[in-house]
Amino acid sequence: MDEKQQMLRNQQAWDAQTGAHVGSEFYDVASFKAGKNSLRPFEQEALGDVSGRSLLHLMCHFGLDTLSWARLGAQVTGVDFSAESIATATALAQELSLDARFVQANVYELPGELDGAFDFVVMTYGTLIWLPDLDGWARAAARCLKPGGTLFVADFHPIAMLFDDDLALARSYFRSGPAEREVKQTYAGEMDQPHIQTTWPWTVGRLVTALGRAGLQVTRVDELPLDLRQRHPAMVQGDDGFWRLPGDPIPLLLACQAIKP
Ligand SMILES: C[S@@+](CC[C@H](N)C(=O)[O-])C[C@H]1O[C@@H](n2cnc3c(N)ncnc32)[C@H](O)[C@@H]1O
Repeated sequence: MDEKQQMLRNQQAWDAQTGAHVGSEFYDVASFKAGKNSLRPFEQEALGDVSGRSLLHLMCHFGLDTLSWARLGAQVTGVDFSAESIATATALAQELSLDARFVQANVYELPGELDGAFDFVVMTYGTLIWLPDLDGWARAAARCLKPGGTLFVADFHPIAMLFDDDLALARSYFRSGPAEREVKQTYAGEMDQPHIQTTWPWTVGRLVTALGRAGLQVTRVDELPLDLRQRHPAMVQGDDGFWRLPGDPIPLLLACQAIKP
């Protein structure tokens, strides 16, 4: 099976889990509808005032973060290859009277109308593992930026993926090639049936190199000892809602900014 077919199978799995995610405690759509902003403080700090600025949110799932940027005044476009996610995001925008455009597309086949159109391109949490070719993705993201525009990527740090539940080292940071897994229970809900998903490991070095090769200037890389959910039994939730390992031994999130010259 080639990468296109693996991504098609991933797309079907994401279609299957969107409904479960919309009703989940993790996404808490009721609070979002009541006005809660789903963005984390360091994302807002990284982008600053987005009011009136154009923002492309890649791999936006069903759009809560995209619509949160819209609530802050950005002119937003969300892209995801899952038709279910895009339909849900579009319906939410309509229901909440938020101005947003959602486009169904694979990040490797973005429509030409997005080229050079954005002050910001944003991609966050649980996205980089779905990309078989970081260089191709970085080129696609860079193409959508205006000169002077900023790419912001935040994701779960690859070092956090190396340990088993007892925090024993379980795999190599330097592994490569795709990994296949049959999944029914996701991080936020349960699908009706199991689906096979393919992911591709990445490293900080491969990410930063891909951004450089795409002609972007990396201006900031932050490694944070925080997670959005309890990935390991030893994690403890703080008053700020983030999960931490006692003593902050390893990075759990990575946030990176790069500018198109
Ligand atoms: C973990 S979710 C992103 C989560 C988002 N940060 C959130 O919390 O809502 C990953 C998303 O990437 C999308 N996706 C995966 N591979 C993709 C691809 N090649 N092109 C476009 N979207 C893709 C999936 O459909 C899914 O909605």
